[in-house]
Amino acid sequence: MTDVPAKRLFIKTYGCQMNVLDSERMADVLRPLGYAQTDSADGADLVVLNTCHIREKATEKVYSELGRMRSLKRQKAEDGGKMLVAVAGCVAQAEGEEMLRRAPVVDLVVGPQSYHRLPELIARAHRAGGERLAADFEAQEKFDALPADRAPGGVTAFLTVQEGCDRFCTFCVVPYTRGAEYSRPASAIEAEARALVARGVREITLLGQNVNAWDGEGEPGLAGLVRRLARIEGLARIRYTTSHPADMGDDLIAAHGEVEALMPYLHLPVQAGSDRVLRAMNRAHTAQSYLATIGKIRAARPDIALSGDFIVGFPGEREADFEATLALVREVNYASAFSFKYSRRPGTPAASMAGQVDEEVKAERLARLQALLDEQQRAFNAAQVGAEFDILVEKPGRHAGQVIGRSPYLQAVHCDGDERLFGAMVRVRVTGAGHNSLAASRALETA
Ligand code: 5AD
Ligand code: SF4
Repeated sequence: MTDVPAKRLFIKTYGCQMNVLDSERMADVLRPLGYAQTDSADGADLVVLNTCHIREKATEKVYSELGRMRSLKRQKAEDGGKMLVAVAGCVAQAEGEEMLRRAPVVDLVVGPQSYHRLPELIARAHRAGGERLAADFEAQEKFDALPADRAPGGVTAFLTVQEGCDRFCTFCVVPYTRGAEYSRPASAIEAEARALVARGVREITLLGQNVNAWDGEGEPGLAGLVRRLARIEGLARIRYTTSHPADMGDDLIAAHGEVEALMPYLHLPVQAGSDRVLRAMNRAHTAQSYLATIGKIRAARPDIALSGDFIVGFPGEREADFEATLALVREVNYASAFSFKYSRRPGTPAASMAGQVDEEVKAERLARLQALLDEQQRAFNAAQVGAEFDILVEKPGRHAGQVIGRSPYLQAVHCDGDERLFGAMVRVRVTGAGHNSLAASRALETA
């Protein structure tokens, strides 16, 4: 865990007992972000006015309190700090955006239905000032780390083109730990790609937490970037990961049908198949819109291999929701996938949601989902037997006289050969299929 200095939180509660409870709840969801309560607004990092509508002139009272906050906020800035001012409760609900216009001292307005979104709103308010929220999240690399650079000198490489995420899925720490989306300029990416190719790299995987939202300088979007990199001589293969379904634009889909170097493999996480759960996850897509996107991608590139991420046991997930996930998986038919039990990350909105699912239920659902995904992966691999394609040979195989390469669909392929083939594209015919890899023999060499 990183050590984040405590930030001071002052909550002023107006009105009824319900508001008192709400204030406690807000303090709870903010604690993992490093906020500890104090009893004075003076010098606070975050002031929440939890308002009440019932008494007459309540709104005017809030506005006059905000007047006082303005000078405290100025004082804090003069001391080199930053005070965020939030208005919650019924006045916030009633006034909404109007409040931000009328009282510029207010950084965020949050109604009673949205207290679980406070972490997101606060992170966004920090971002508006160009800062990152230093949150005390436990490292749990499997959910928020990008893969490490592959061994230098290899024939495949990762190239980071984008970092951060603006999507704020309610289970995910990335928007807090990695900050706002940032895209590197196309020219810098191209220069790095050319340098990689010059030292023997033939396949580049473009990396980003939300890579298909890439909007760097120099190209209109990831599709433009891919087309530009595809012109680099010697670069045989391009892949990219990880993508958000809602950022899967038509131009990128079209590129899958048109750019030869863009490999027929796409990792497009859906997380769940139930719209109710997807809404609670703040995923910005439905099962139907995801399936429609998959349909368009398959129309552009019929042989595309699809991969995804899944979470089972998200708060509030019922058996019927989980079955909707299974139904979606059956409809898509994945070539590979990653699936996880929902894991509570304090500080994220989902961690404080009602309806947390029992561990045994999660385990049981995960086993059922993984059985189905495994079956699909085996079937996908088995269907390749007899097929011919190029593999990019990467390294020695487990046995002497054997090498390992990747199929266009990212499967590991074992084939006869020696180190002279490293870095070569070799035409093979698939002779056997296992769960995680294929066996093949050489057809005629192409490059
Ligand atoms: N619990 C379970 N799975 C998670 N992921 C991210 N956060 C969580 C969490 N709190 C999964 C998602 C994401 C992948 C990288 O990790 O499926 O797509
Ligand atoms: Fe996390 Fe991905 Fe959602 Fe961004 S899009 S919040 S990285 S799961």
